[in-house]
Amino acid sequence: MATQPSAPAAETAGAADTIPLARPVLGEAEELAVLEVLRSGQLSLGPRVPEFERRFAQQAGAPLACAVSSGTAGLHLALRAVGVGEGDEVVTSPFSFVASANAAIYERARPVFADIDPVTLNLDPQAAAAAVGERTSALLPVHIFGYPADMPAFEALAAKHGLGIVEDACEALGAVHADGPAVGGRGNLAVFGFYANKQLTTGEGGMITLADPAQKERIDSERNQGRAPDMGWLDHDRLGFNYRLSDIASAIGIAQLDRLDEMLAARGRVASLYREALVGIEDLQLPCPDIGGDTRGWFVFVVQVPHAVDRDETVRALAARGVQSKPYLPAIHLMSFYRERFGHRPGEFPVCEDVAARSLALPFFPEMSESQIERVAEELRAVLSSAGAA
Ligand SMILES: Cc1ncc(COP(=O)(O)O)c(C=O)c1O
Repeated sequence: MATQPSAPAAETAGAADTIPLARPVLGEAEELAVLEVLRSGQLSLGPRVPEFERRFAQQAGAPLACAVSSGTAGLHLALRAVGVGEGDEVVTSPFSFVASANAAIYERARPVFADIDPVTLNLDPQAAAAAVGERTSALLPVHIFGYPADMPAFEALAAKHGLGIVEDACEALGAVHADGPAVGGRGNLAVFGFYANKQLTTGEGGMITLADPAQKERIDSERNQGRAPDMGWLDHDRLGFNYRLSDIASAIGIAQLDRLDEMLAARGRVASLYREALVGIEDLQLPCPDIGGDTRGWFVFVVQVPHAVDRDETVRALAARGVQSKPYLPAIHLMSFYRERFGHRPGEFPVCEDVAARSLALPFFPEMSESQIERVAEELRAVLSSAGAA
């Protein structure tokens, strides 16, 4: 579990005075929304799903949206919708949660990695261009840690080679591109995730935003075992999956949307306080500030420890001082499955490997108090200085 970004109970609860990594904001509105669905008797395939889709699309500035059971399910259906199939290649980032690369493998396509930008930590468009080959059928940039990927560059690259685009926006709700649209509102298929550590949670869940009604029809059918909306009960005209989001989850999502602006602002406040509290720790790299009009949708607060410091030892020392932290994220190409299946070796993507070896997610959630932030900063300062680096 050490490398899993999705927060299990141990990450969200913790001992009484331990500062947890993540904690969702859930209240009476969510409780009432769930109760209403339970009392309605329609727990799935009911009215809350299209309502959540409409509201979410509006929020992202997208014409359409498809609710799905997880971000991973969304990535899978989105890749199918842009035509990725057996033998194809999908150019993507090795610095992401493993789901973004796995989704290509579900379709017997190959994820082809390219290195990342050392500042934004997103897929580097030039490296991606160099990785495009004869078999490439799609680009899958990831808005990592909520920072907008350079979509104008990827859109130009896709247009040049006739490629599909799927944006992994699982971590990027609330982010905005410098050229205007919110992440998810450019007309490409963009996939959001609603696991418990995300900006908006439904427990588990996801959403694809998109502009093409034909793609929506296909995704809506494939998430429901391949059944078109006008087809009779248990009639299916294509292969599908059970990737549906329930009405219970959708009702929680609608309630969360009502408080989204507030929750995003609170995350922004915590990030600003962290910046102030961590200032002056030598060689500690903080998340990049917004550049040139791009706006991060704050998801996690990930720092990179100095080169001279052992990151894993830092995690253990912080835990002993009552502060949860996690390595975040490991390089996908160096995971054992990827090494074995594709023969990847260290040294292929040096920027990603350097960042992955030093990255550390600190506790980060909307209701974090100023004193909790100060305590995390103090403990980190103490740990790093005893490691001889601060
Ligand atoms: C970048 C990224 N992609 C994909 C996913 C997968 O989302 P889910 O856990 O909802 O399947 C996540 C979430 O953990 C993520 O952070």
